[in-house]
Amino acid sequence: MQRRPLGSSGLEVSSIGLGTWAMGGHVETWGYVDDRESIATIHQALDCGINLIDTAPIYGLGHSEEIVGKAIHARRDEVILATKCGLLFPKSKDEVPPRCLSRECILRGCEESLRRLRTDVIDLYQCHRPDPETPCQETMGALTTLLEQGKIRAIGLSNYSCEQIAAAQEFGPIVALQPPFSMLNLRAADDLVPFCIEHDIAVLPYSPLAKGLLTGKFSAESRFTDVRARDPEFIGERFRRNLHVVEQLVEIAAGYDKTVTQLVVNWTTTHVGITAPIIGAKRPSQVLEHAGGVGWTIKEDDRDRIETILRS
Ligand SMILES: NC(=O)c1ccc[n+]([C@@H]2O[C@H](COP(=O)([O-])OP(=O)(O)OC[C@H]3O[C@@H](n4cnc5c(N)ncnc54)[C@H](OP(=O)(O)O)[C@@H]3O)[C@@H](O)[C@H]2O)c1
Repeated sequence: MQRRPLGSSGLEVSSIGLGTWAMGGHVETWGYVDDRESIATIHQALDCGINLIDTAPIYGLGHSEEIVGKAIHARRDEVILATKCGLLFPKSKDEVPPRCLSRECILRGCEESLRRLRTDVIDLYQCHRPDPETPCQETMGALTTLLEQGKIRAIGLSNYSCEQIAAAQEFGPIVALQPPFSMLNLRAADDLVPFCIEHDIAVLPYSPLAKGLLTGKFSAESRFTDVRARDPEFIGERFRRNLHVVEQLVEIAAGYDKTVTQLVVNWTTTHVGITAPIIGAKRPSQVLEHAGGVGWTIKEDDRDRIETILRS
């Protein structure tokens, strides 16, 4: 699998990454997942040459990090390990995770992540969401302390605007951004992607399959009880429009003898300015399908057709 620079960090990542949110195993978020299958999925990713693995403390309140730690322990040198900081565990089921990017929250969070991940260094440590209550200088001060201590190798941001990234850059090196981006959500292409190209920041889009919508497995009759039940992309007219987009993409994929998932992966990894989409998977077969999405080329006229479909 092709490797690409992770911004200015000197690290290199595979052109697709593995997302482990669902492996947190929180039933109401992503339904039931089996830990053994999650570990097999991570091993499958490494066997396919995927080296970028993304997790976060909040995914299953530590469980995703623990599963990742267990899976990669004997293969640590094959992995660019990415996790996050800045979301505290909620005290009740209904509470939105509080944001905290204070020095204390970051230094403590890092120790806890290192322990759960069974490692002594995190390759990419990302602020999960901006924290409006903490001065950017304090957040970046804590992160640069971790860099100096050798506990992290590089700093990334997620869900930040261009202005917020620029503010953070005043106080330390930002090498990667993790924004939402998919064929059904192109907003980052307007401002964030050009900004990152200009500043040599890697772009690692999350939810590139639109939480599974772009795999073509849903229909107007599909009903959702997990995280998708609350996502506007899966509701009403928007959902019907999305299904129509996917139908047209299925036809294009068939011309290459590929699945629509593979067409989507290919399109995303070859989109200007994109370094590596973080693709969620729950089982090894899903990773294998993702891996078949790279290493071939979508013809120019099909790219134009896709562009027309997505912008209509
Ligand atoms: N920074 C942030 O704020 C943020 C936010 C969201 C996500 N993320 C990261 O990005 C990663 C990916 O995003 P995501 O999980 O939201 O969405 P995604 O990658 O768009 O979709 C992943 C889901 O689609 C389904 N799927 C995947 N491959 C499939 C295949 N080949 N065939 C059929 N179904 C397939 C699986 O769920 P089912 O099998 O249940 O359908 C899987 O959990 C996360 O795991 C996480 O690491 C970060």
